[in-house]
This record gives sequence, structure tokens and C-alpha cells, in this order.
Amino acid sequence: TPTYTHTQRVGSVQACLFSSSPPSIDLFVAVGSSVKIPCSDGEEKGVEWRFNSSVLVSSSVLFIQNSSLKDQGIYTCHQPNGDLIQTVSLHLGYPPSTPDVHCWSPSYPKRAICSWTLTPDPILPTHYIATYRSFSDPLSSARQCQKWGEQDRQCALEQLEIFASEMTLINITAVNALGSTTRIWPIIFEQIVKPDPPVNVSVMVMPGRKLSVQWGPPPTWPDPVNFQLKYTVKFHWGKPETARTLGFYESNKMVLSGLVAGRTYYIQISAKDSLDDGQSSDWSEPISATVPFN
Ligand SMILES: *[C@@H]1O[C@H](CO)[C@@H](O)[C@H](O)[C@H]1NC(C)=O
Ligand SMILES: *[C@@H]1O[C@H](CO)[C@@H](O)[C@H](O)[C@H]1NC(C)=O
Ligand SMILES: *[C@@H]1O[C@H](CO)[C@@H](O)[C@H](O)[C@H]1NC(C)=O
Ligand SMILES: *[C@@H]1O[C@H](CO)[C@@H](O)[C@H](O)[C@H]1NC(C)=O
Repeated sequence: TPTYTHTQRVGSVQACLFSSSPPSIDLFVAVGSSVKIPCSDGEEKGVEWRFNSSVLVSSSVLFIQNSSLKDQGIYTCHQPNGDLIQTVSLHLGYPPSTPDVHCWSPSYPKRAICSWTLTPDPILPTHYIATYRSFSDPLSSARQCQKWGEQDRQCALEQLEIFASEMTLINITAVNALGSTTRIWPIIFEQIVKPDPPVNVSVMVMPGRKLSVQWGPPPTWPDPVNFQLKYTVKFHWGKPETARTLGFYESNKMVLSGLVAGRTYYIQISAKDSLDDGQSSDWSEPISATVPFN
């Protein structure tokens, strides 16, 4: 049996019993570790290891010290006559580090989203188990945090009404061939409210050097009637650092007045929960309008 030093785990071992095809294995190794791979029946003289088809060592044992990403690839061990004895696919990476978790609720009180990052990136295929449960009721069964969007490092917590003001514990567990790690992340839904930006911002020129600004609530906000939003309007001309903000507005429109003819103004809107829970949304994309001279 082959032995592997300093490798935490050997992946799938495939050997076909009914044909003479040589064994092929996947080997997962942490960057910086050393790896020693003996050829299957490699006591014979003259066997050699090849990396990407070029000869590496004329020895039955392949030894890589302080492995790095450039050692990744396919290693094959051959008889003196060139026949293939064994194939090893070497995959380098890192065991998962503890995830950094960030959660926010653009759809309060229906849904929150958590996303997380791992530093360094484990490089190897890594999968995530994400669950959540109430802090005050440790016996309650954990709920699955459902995959959200295209990313595999993002999930959605649904139907939060029942948890709104109590602490919820989120468990993000990352698993790959080199190990696993868990982050328990506490949140209180009321405190992580963050709407998406308002949409359909439009500006209309009005007589008297005024601009009428209108917008719509973020479509992800599930219930603008019972969970109202309030809005801030930001506008500038010239340098963006000179922007002024006005608000809050409870309605979906306002009028900018006291403007200067000939100037082009850039206008952005942000939304916040009207009870001041959580954070304001990001700003909407700027929309511009030029105040006419007449
Ligand atoms: C291993 O390799 C890295 C980069 O190739 C180098 O920075 C490090 O000093 C090496 N470590 C040892 C123990 O040789
Ligand atoms: C070996 O082959 C792999 C896969 O084709 C490739 O990614 C890698 O760059 C090659 N390495 C060298 C040193 O040729
Ligand atoms: C976190 O989730 C993992 C995977 O489901 C589980 O094994 C572990 O026990 C959980 N940890 C806690 C503290 O709930
Ligand atoms: C935004 O505009 C689109 C297209 O005109 C419309 O379908 C949608 O209902 C509007 N949304 C809001 C919140 O006003």
C-alpha cells in the first residue's frame, strides 16, 4: 500500500478490478507540506516518475518538499520499458480558514442574506453547510440556510418574523479534503436591516429652476405598507465631495429648489427602515438633470 506523509487525506481511490488499467488516485495536499509518493509496485530498478510527461526522478519514490501551487498536476510512474504503473493527480490548496460572515436583511421581516469569505482562498473544492437556530431555544432544531444566488458562499434565512428581536445563531461550516472549520455568528434581525437601493429614480425639470425627483421603493422590500421606508436625497454638481443630503422623506417624491440655471445636478436616493432599525441602503445610481436658463 502506498504511504503518504504530511498529507491529511487521500481523495477517491479508483482501481478497476476487471481490466488491466493502472491505478489512478487524487491526492490533496496542503501548500507548504512535503509529500512522498511511492510507486505502487515500485521496488524494481529503473522505474521513473514523470510530471506532465517529462521525466522527474529515476526512483520509485517521488518526494516533493515544501510543495507549492506549481507542483500541481499529473504524476505518472513508469516501468523501465515505459509502461504506466500508476497515475497520481496532485491537488494543492489550504484547509478552510474560519469564514468571515456578513449578514443583512434587504427584505425585512421575511428574509436575511448571509455571505462569507475565507482567507486564504482554500483553492480546493470546498463545500459549505449553513444552518441557523434561535439562541434562547437551544433545543430547537436547526434550520437550513438555503443557497442564495449563483455563489456558493451565500445563503438566505427565510420567515424571520418569529425571530425578529431575539438572537439567532448562524453556523457556517466549511469542509474540504484537508479539513473543516465552523464559525458561529450571532445576529439580531432588527439590527441587520439594510434595504436595497430605491429604483426607477426620475427627474423632471420644473419652472423656477426646480427639479422634481421621484423614485420607487426597492422591489426586494416585501411590505412597504406595514414596514415603511424613509428616504434621503443626495445631490451635487461639480465635485461629488460637495454633495448635500436632504431628508428624511416618507413619500416617494420631493422637489429640489434654489438651483442654478445651466448647472447639471447628479441625484441619488437611499432608503432606510422608518423605525431606524439597521442601516441605510446603498445609494441608487446617480441620475443627472440640467437646469435650463428660461
Ligand atoms: C517554502 O516555499 C516558500 C515559497 O516558495 C518559501 O517562502 C518558504 O520559505 C519555504 N519554506 C521552507 C521551510 O523551505
Ligand atoms: C502540468 O500540467 C497541468 C495540467 O495540464 C498544468 O496546469 C501545469 O501548469 C503543468 N505544469 C508544468 C510545470 O508544466
Ligand atoms: C455547526 O454545523 C456543523 C455541520 O452541520 C455541525 O457538525 C456542528 O455541530 C454545528 N456546531 C454547532 C455549535 O452548532
Ligand atoms: C419601475 O419601473 C418598471 C418599468 O417601468 C416597473 O415595471 C416597475 O413597477 C417600477 N417599480 C417601482 C417600484 O416603481
